[in-house]
Formats: sequence, C-alpha cells, structure tokens
Amino acid sequence: LRDFPFFEHLDDEYLAEIAKLCSERTYIKGESIFFEGEEGEELYLVISGVVQIYQDNHSRDVILSIFREGDFFGEMALLQNERARSASARTIEKSTLCILKKRDFIPLLKSNPEILIGILETALDRLRDANKLITDLTVIDVRTRIARVLLRLTEQHGVPSDEGVLIDLKLTHQHLADMTGTARETVTKSLLGLQDEQLIRIDQRKILVCNIDRLRNILDVI
Ligand code: CMP
Repeated sequence: LRDFPFFEHLDDEYLAEIAKLCSERTYIKGESIFFEGEEGEELYLVISGVVQIYQDNHSRDVILSIFREGDFFGEMALLQNERARSASARTIEKSTLCILKKRDFIPLLKSNPEILIGILETALDRLRDANKLITDLTVIDVRTRIARVLLRLTEQHGVPSDEGVLIDLKLTHQHLADMTGTARETVTKSLLGLQDEQLIRIDQRKILVCNIDRLRNILDVI
C-alpha cells in the first residue's frame, strides 16, 4: 500500500490496519470493473496490471486515462454522495486491484487529512490533464495530438533506457485512437510517419520514444 502516494506518510502499523480493510480481486484482460452511471461505493487501488477509464460515446470509446500500479480510481462517486460513476473502467491487461469500501474509507479520510489532500492533489493533476485534452481535441491536428498523448504516456508510464523512453504498455492502435479522438487507420499512418522520422520505434507492441526532444518540438510549433 505504500506505493500509493497518499499512504506514503503512514506508519507500518496503521498501514497494516488499512490493509485489513481491503479486499483483493484479480480481473482478466478486458474485464469490466464498473460502468458509467452506476452507483459507486468503492475505491480501487491498482496493485498490478493496466486499467482504462473511458466513456462510451455512441458505442465509440473515448479513453480518458490509463492507470497502473500505484494509481487509484473510483474516488469521485465515493466522495460525491448521490453522484454516479462518471466513467467506466475496464482492464487492458490482467490486473489485481485492492478494493476499499466507502464505509471504511470515509472514516480514514476524516482521521487523516493528509490522505484527503493526497487524493485531491491527484484529482487536480487529472483535471489539468483533462483540460489539456480538451484543448488538444479542439484545436490541434491529429499528428500533434498523437505526439501529445505519447508524451503524456512517457510521463505516466515511461521507462528510460539508453535508447530513449519506453512506454511500458501494450497498447493497440485502437487504444491510441480512443485517446486522441481519431480513427485507428489515422493512428497507424501517424505512427508510421513518426517512425520514419526516427522519433519513435515500435517494438513488440510497445512504443519507444527515441527522440523525446524532437517529439516535444512538434508541440512547440503550435
Ligand atoms: P468515479 O466517477 O467514481 O468512476 C470513474 C473514475 O474514473 C472516477 O471516479 C475517477 O477516479 C476516474 N476518472 C474520471 N474522469 C477522469 C479523468 N478525466 N482522468 C482521469 N481519471 C478520471
């Protein structure tokens, strides 16, 4: 549990008490966790695997974010009484989640304002990302949108190496299309273009950003 930034400052004993309140569940690849509009009484902590948060817009997914080990979700419906899940959640890889019930979590927040502040900080970071996404979808072209998403993914899921930064996720072109509001074919074309320019390399379904500065340059010109 210490991997979760908002639990970082707690001592071992207290953390062990919290661990007792959690139940663990493993989901297979592609399994739904919950749907937008449902009631939500649980907070989910990602122990392992990869989860997408998405909205289904006329049977087309719009991916809002991708979460992995150390990330949490489901706090919105839990903290906003009477409000439903604001988006759906589904695994991209087999994932193990730790589930905390509202009736256990709310007292924790009340006795530990640091946990609440930690959650708020993350929620505000997500709002910043969402603001960027709105701007991107509204004003910039597809190639630039894809460059922006790749940069965001290097920040959230990047593993640096001698060759560049590897985005440590096996994403399909459809996932990237759902993150950039475009068609899969367009993503394929743009990725091939970026690969030809030697900005990225695609290796076993993972993207290596070989030249992060030049990728950033694409964004500087807008
Ligand atoms: P909740 O509304 O309970 O269920 C969906 C969850 O997805 C939500 O809580 C947040 O944890 C998460 N979520 C919703 N919108 C975004 C977003 N724009 N970026 C990242 N995470 C989000």
